[in-house]
Amino acid sequence: MPLDYNKLISQEYQRRPEPAIRSLLSLEKKPGMISFLAGKPNPDRFPFESITVKLKPSAVLSTDPSTGASTELVIDGNTLERVLQYGYTAGDPLFDEALNDLVSAVHGRTRHDDTPAGDFEITVGTGSQDLLAKTSLALFDKGDTILVESPMYPGLLPDLGSRGIHVINVATDQEGLSASSLAQILDEWNQNERTKELSFPKAVYTVPTGGNPSGTTASADRKRAILQIVRKHSILILEDDPYYYLSFEGLEEDSVMRHRSPSYFALEKEDNDPWGYGYVLRFESFSKILSAGMRLGFMAGPKPIIDAVSGYMATSSIHASSPMQVMAALLLQHWGVPGFLSHVDEVARLYQQRRDFFEVKLASVLGGDKNQQRALASWVTPVAGMFFWVKLHLPPESDAPQGNSSNVITKNAVDHNVLAVPGASFYAGQQITPYVRLSFSVIPEEEMEEGLLRLRKAIEDAWKEHGYSTIPPM
Ligand SMILES: Cc1ncc(COP(=O)(O)O)c(C=O)c1O
Repeated sequence: MPLDYNKLISQEYQRRPEPAIRSLLSLEKKPGMISFLAGKPNPDRFPFESITVKLKPSAVLSTDPSTGASTELVIDGNTLERVLQYGYTAGDPLFDEALNDLVSAVHGRTRHDDTPAGDFEITVGTGSQDLLAKTSLALFDKGDTILVESPMYPGLLPDLGSRGIHVINVATDQEGLSASSLAQILDEWNQNERTKELSFPKAVYTVPTGGNPSGTTASADRKRAILQIVRKHSILILEDDPYYYLSFEGLEEDSVMRHRSPSYFALEKEDNDPWGYGYVLRFESFSKILSAGMRLGFMAGPKPIIDAVSGYMATSSIHASSPMQVMAALLLQHWGVPGFLSHVDEVARLYQQRRDFFEVKLASVLGGDKNQQRALASWVTPVAGMFFWVKLHLPPESDAPQGNSSNVITKNAVDHNVLAVPGASFYAGQQITPYVRLSFSVIPEEEMEEGLLRLRKAIEDAWKEHGYSTIPPM
């Protein structure tokens, strides 16, 4: 059944008047039109003549093979004039074209290709966080409900909480969002005491690759099962996938031929006859693969929702930085899709090597070993991303039979000069948990062992403070 977007899009958005000036702007393109419309600054006194970006020697295609000269990406002439001026909310045309090519090559769906699969739009944001925040405005009013994987990336939580949107946790397992838990919650919505008074959810939020904080990755079969459930219940999937390219499986294969897990957005193509398209809102980010400070992300999904997100963008940041968009577009053009895939595999290899190094240290410091050292932690090895989600072995407390990592991290660990994120930060509502998130992305390798030794001391102190002279087995 196609989704009814009028029911999914927030009342608040539907009440918004059209921005007076922006809605007239497209008429400026009409031949012969004289426009006194926009308050554009006069570019004559903009001080920039060109923008040149040089690639690192280690980057993919950083030199011209025939001349040996370093690759420079140059923005000048008409393109410079365009990017220094106010631009289009949905994205600069050059970047938009590059994104279209990328989505088409990687997810097998080409926008506006006259097939049902091509019936979607793309919009650019100041990072995917920006697009998530605007999607929250575009979809949810006070009293609406969203389902979230639990634990979850907490970027959306403060906004959802302060706007009175109900957040219902869905359990996760080693593949992230649990299909059986999702199905049960939705099937029993009107009977369950916890949910029956709430409005039926509009969407489920998940990070399917290298989950933040869980490090989990969903298989294609798990995604198929979840897609089936959301189709049955006519809700959206918010597929927040900034770690999509940081997946470690198959890195020994050729980067173009390598098997990458299909996204939810790609999987919509399967079995689409009875269901149609438009259940997936896909969020991608360039933060982890080009630069976080560029603040570039994009989303792809059904036009009515993308238009609503753009509507909020138009009255906030207007658009993401055009020079940054075009810098990324020139790079993507220079690389082509094969060069891009080769670059992202290089990025993934770095994280894979760091994960391996970190895990050896984690096992030797917090895992049990042959010297009869007591294991103080357990974890599942992440197959993508940059996080270990580690369950600490902590003293039981009256309200926390498995211990409370917040107490240990915010006090004992800080006293020992080591920081990690307590697991409670990744749950909607109050949650006491023995988990912590340890990031291995940037910490110098030589500090990993020392940091973990300090964490070990913090845990040992917690046991002593609870009156244990020896720590019982996990
Ligand atoms: C799961 C998840 N979503 C979104 C973001 C935000 O990414 P961006 O830098 O594109 O705004 C992050 C950043 O860490 C993240 O981990």
